[in-house]
Amino acid sequence: MTSSSSASFSSDSAAPASAELLELARSIAIDAAELVARRRADGVTVAATKSSLEDVVTFADRESEDFIRARLAEARPEDGFLGEESEATPGSSGITWVVDPIDGTVNYLYDIPAYAVSIAAVTGSTDPAEWTALAGVVVNPVLGEVFSASAGGGAFLDSPRAAHRRLAVNEDVALAQALVGTGFSYSAEVRVKQGQVVTGLVGKVRDIRRAGSAALDLCSVALGRLDAYAERGLNPWDHAAGALICREAGARVGGFGDAKESGVMTLAAAPALAAELEPLVRELHRNADLPL
Ligand code: IPD
Repeated sequence: MTSSSSASFSSDSAAPASAELLELARSIAIDAAELVARRRADGVTVAATKSSLEDVVTFADRESEDFIRARLAEARPEDGFLGEESEATPGSSGITWVVDPIDGTVNYLYDIPAYAVSIAAVTGSTDPAEWTALAGVVVNPVLGEVFSASAGGGAFLDSPRAAHRRLAVNEDVALAQALVGTGFSYSAEVRVKQGQVVTGLVGKVRDIRRAGSAALDLCSVALGRLDAYAERGLNPWDHAAGALICREAGARVGGFGDAKESGVMTLAAAPALAAELEPLVRELHRNADLPL
């Protein structure tokens, strides 16, 4: 994994091209992923718990976010910041960076090699229902996989086995043949209801996967390692970069009905499969008494 040389920007920082934002995000995400991997090798310690005892933050999460935040502030001081582990700050440029310093923190804690640094640049709003994602990068340091996309520029994977491979979702997969990724809440009460949704789904699809990183799940759909992904309860930083990567690979990414992806639902698949899966997942959520 090599980071590209540091990008330089014109003085017109209020309207940067998506490609410039992507170059910056990519360079910082690769460096942050290397930091995260080094800290994993040293041994990981839980710094605190958040929404529940299962919802942990490690010292490496905080260090990674501080590192990313400082690098972004240095390169683009006028931009806003929305990250998982620190206070959000508005900017004046119209661009906000949406950052998950380690997505898949529980995998990271257990040394399961499915965690990632996720960085996206969005514009228009800090609300996923209203923002437009311009650039996104997701880096799995263990596999050396760098997923990236810019708006209108396509989605790509760079890894030791793939040099800038263009990504495309699996097309023409019937619901009954679909391998579907999902995830569960840190709240035990919600997890039980999500279990009911999975019970209703598992007999209607090929199988279910729960890999433990929403950002990587979305990239897996973009790459064709999964046919579809559906999860309730994501935070904006979990899906900001992955959703753009998935869309640029040809997926329909959204929530229930015409809604955009959100904490209520993030569902991604090739459009024909999404059209079959979405009403089923919605019905299962209704039956499990999960708000729509
Ligand atoms: C979590 C992961 C997990 C998903 C959870 C997320 P975190 O993010 O993406 O796969 O099921 O909903 O909260 O806490 O590891 O950054």
